[in-house]
Amino acid sequence: MDISQLKKEAALKACQMVEGGMTLGVGTGSTVAYFIEGLGKRSKEEGMEVRCVPTSIRCAQALKKSGLEVCDIDRVGRIDLTVDGADAVDPNLDGLKGLGGALLWEKIVAENSDRYVWIVDQSKLVDRLKGKVCLEVVKFGFEKLLEELEECGLNPSLRKGENGPVLTDSSNYLIDLDLGEIEDPAFLATDLKQRTGVIEQGMFLGMADEVIAATEGGIKILK
Ligand code: A5P
Repeated sequence: MDISQLKKEAALKACQMVEGGMTLGVGTGSTVAYFIEGLGKRSKEEGMEVRCVPTSIRCAQALKKSGLEVCDIDRVGRIDLTVDGADAVDPNLDGLKGLGGALLWEKIVAENSDRYVWIVDQSKLVDRLKGKVCLEVVKFGFEKLLEELEECGLNPSLRKGENGPVLTDSSNYLIDLDLGEIEDPAFLATDLKQRTGVIEQGMFLGMADEVIAATEGGIKILK
């Protein structure tokens, strides 16, 4: 089965969790794009009304395009449910996020949510967290920070696009750490977060309440 189909299945399952009147947090990425599509459809066909707090400018644009109400996070109380994607998820439901560049807003929305759910295809399920850990960093002194991270053996690289360094929605830079398997995610998360210049890091530990994983064998709900 192709991965896009699995992403869609996970997203549509999450759509079923949504009830009219909810304040929703909406993540960023290709899997969440199917969730937004499904929400838009329910809103048109069933007249379901929800308020959506976006986790990126891209997400806000897609929500509006689907006819959904977009709300600023500071104009709502607690968020009832947030649905987001992830780059990797381990059996403890710890995960890596940020390959799409939206980790800071995503983490703020997640922390203000009563229920936080990830939608993933089977390729995201891993035994141990490994691969790229993303950092959102201030521009000032980023080369100094790169040197510091390099000296610590964290294999950092500044994320670049066609026109130079990628800018986040808060106009910060992104640094990707190429780490392989992460021995102690909690230790690393604390270590990274306390470095001056690092605004947020892409390990989301102990945050997800549920993961909807679409596999060739069907949908799995991990709690
Ligand atoms: C956005 O920055 C990320 O945290 C995404 O949630 C993550 O990269 C998953 O995206 P896909 O659904 O496109 O894989």
